[in-house]
Amino acid sequence: MARISAEVAAQVIDSLADHGVAVVDEALPPELVDALWSRARRQPIDDFAFGGVGRGNDRLHESLRNDRILWLDPDDAITRSYFDWIESLRNELNRTLFLGLFEYECHLAWYPAGSFYQRHRDAFRGGASRRVSTVLYLNRAWASDDGGALVLYAPSASEPDAQGSRTVAPIYGRLVVFLSEEVPHEVLPAQRSRYSIAGWFRSA
Ligand code: OGA
Ligand code: MN
Repeated sequence: MARISAEVAAQVIDSLADHGVAVVDEALPPELVDALWSRARRQPIDDFAFGGVGRGNDRLHESLRNDRILWLDPDDAITRSYFDWIESLRNELNRTLFLGLFEYECHLAWYPAGSFYQRHRDAFRGGASRRVSTVLYLNRAWASDDGGALVLYAPSASEPDAQGSRTVAPIYGRLVVFLSEEVPHEVLPAQRSRYSIAGWFRSA
């Protein structure tokens, strides 16, 4: 069963505890990333819905984003392994950081050329919702002029102009984990098709 290695778990936990953000390359078994990518690339375009049309909070974001999404099913054979791996991450986060995470949902996001997602947070403090966000990238041979970078702003920075930000390219197999309520972020316009699996852990 796919599960997180001790080394990757330590990287995610230390960085999350210190900075509210962790960026880890090759965090998952490569064959799992390949299986997710072959699943993603075979997905008919018509199966994707516009992001922001769907569950609860997402409606807030309708004008902010133009990616297209497909919610993933934990019982699907390929995504099952991903959910298994995520479950092992959840256990590590709960064991070490006492986050009390109990539920996870994720979607495949497709950003056709020209798509973006403006600066936002994935959750609002005090809301009964998302605590930790994950994003796994599935873009082979991504060049810097392909755009589509994820910009993560400093957790405590007051809006609108944050001091200090970090720009992360959406390269194949890279996993980003961050605190949903703390970290404002945005996706810069992608110059070519860009795929990611974005997910959220909730607490009670
Ligand atoms: C999101 C999000 C980032 C990305 O779906 O909320 O911020 O890089 N995605 O895909
Ligand atoms: Mn987001």
